[in-house]
Amino acid sequence: MNLSSSPRLMIVSDLDHTMVDHHDPENKSLLRFNALWAAEFSHDSLLVFSTGRSPTLYKELRREKPLLTPGITILSVGTEIMYGDSMIPDSGWEQELDKGWDRSIVMEVASEMPQLTFQSATEQRPHKVSFSVDRGQAPEIMKILDDRLKARGLEVKLIHSGGQDLDVLPIGASKGHALSYLLKKFEAEGKSPLQTMVCGDSGNDAELFAVPGVYGSMVGNAMEELINWYNENARDNQKIFRATETCASGIIQGLQHFGIDPCVSPRDLEMDGDFVAGDKDGHQAIAREIVLHQLLCEKWLKGEVECNDHVFEILKAPVAPHSTLIGAWGVDIQLANAIEMLRPLHGLHKDKRFWIWVDRIRVTNIGKDTWLAKFDKWQHYDGELNCRITTAVFQSPEGKPYATAIQIQETWKEGYAGKPMLKI
Ligand code: GLC
Ligand code: MG
Repeated sequence: MNLSSSPRLMIVSDLDHTMVDHHDPENKSLLRFNALWAAEFSHDSLLVFSTGRSPTLYKELRREKPLLTPGITILSVGTEIMYGDSMIPDSGWEQELDKGWDRSIVMEVASEMPQLTFQSATEQRPHKVSFSVDRGQAPEIMKILDDRLKARGLEVKLIHSGGQDLDVLPIGASKGHALSYLLKKFEAEGKSPLQTMVCGDSGNDAELFAVPGVYGSMVGNAMEELINWYNENARDNQKIFRATETCASGIIQGLQHFGIDPCVSPRDLEMDGDFVAGDKDGHQAIAREIVLHQLLCEKWLKGEVECNDHVFEILKAPVAPHSTLIGAWGVDIQLANAIEMLRPLHGLHKDKRFWIWVDRIRVTNIGKDTWLAKFDKWQHYDGELNCRITTAVFQSPEGKPYATAIQIQETWKEGYAGKPMLKI
C-alpha cells in the first residue's frame, strides 16, 4: 500500500524464528502468510519488518527466504528505520538516538571485558554494539557492563536475545521505541493504523509487546527470555496472545485470535472448489484473483490438484477473450494459449522445492471498472530464483462479479531472469 492514508492493519514482525522458520526448507508457514497478506491485506494495510539484523544480514536473508517487501524495515534492533522499497533511512530517528550516546565509551569498556566477544563487523552499527556471551553468564555480565558504563557517565539499553546475543544500544532505542516513534509520527500525520499487531519470539522483541495499545502474538516457539519477560510483565495483558503455532503460522493464528479478518490464507483453501473469489470490490478482489491464480498454477505444476478440465476452467475464468500476454521472454501470445501450455505439465514439479509467491502488489483504478495491477511474480525452483515484474490491466465485464485480465506484460527483474522452461 502507499503510505498516504491510515492503514487498516499494521503488522510489525520480527524475522528470524518469527516470520522465517529456519527449520523448514519448504517455508510453508511463511508462504501461507505471504499469500494471505498479498491477497487480503496488501491493498490497505502496512507490513513492517523489525529485525535485529544489520542491512547486510537482512539483504542476505532476503536472498535465502521468500520474504515479502515490507513498507517499512526496522533494522539493527530498532536503531535503523527505513521506508519503502528503496529503504530510505529516517534521519530524524538517527538524530534522536544520537542524544546522550557515545559509542566510543562502549567500545573502550567492552574491550576490557574478556567475557564479551564482538559479533561480526557487519553487526556493529552506529547505534548498536553487539556481542556474544556465555548463555549462563548473561545476566551477570550485563550487570557488570551496565555498572561500568554508568561509572563512565553513559546510560545504555542492554538487550539479551536468543540465549547468547547481547546488544548495547542508546538508552532510548529498542524495537519497541522505534515502533512508538513511528506511531507518534503517524499520529502527527493523521494516519494512525486502525489496528497494530506485533509478533516476535525472542528477547529483543519484548519491548514491542510493551508498546501501549498494540495487539501481540508471541509465536509458539518463543524463547525462554521472552517467556520470562511475559510472565513477569504481561501475564494479565489480554492483548498479548501466546500462539501455539510456530513462526508465521503463529502470526496467522494471532490474527484469528483477535478476529482480524480475513484470516484464512488462500493456501489453506480448497483450490478446486469455488475458486474465483472476486467481487466488484476492486483492489482487494483483483489482488485476491492474482494470488489465487498463481497458487493454482503452482499446485498444477506440483500435481497437488487433480488433473482435470475443471482446473483449466478456473485458470481461464479471469481471462478476457482475445487478451494477450507479452511474456518475459519477449513472446506475444494469446493469454488463453499461454495458460494452455501448462496443461501437459501437470505434476512436473511433484515433490520438488518449487513455489510461487506474489510480492509488491499494487492495484490502481484507472477508469470505469478498469484497474492496473503491478506485482512481482517470484518463482523458486530447487534453489534457483526468478522474478517477473508484471503489469496487468483488468476490467469487470458488465454484470459480472469478477474482473478479467485484458492485457498482461512481464519483464525479468534485474538479476533474476529465469531459465528457459516454458519460453513465454
Ligand atoms: C540479530 C543481529 C545481532 C543481534 C541479534 C539479537 O541476530 O544480527 O547482531 O545481536 O539479532 O538482537
Ligand atoms: Mg527472532
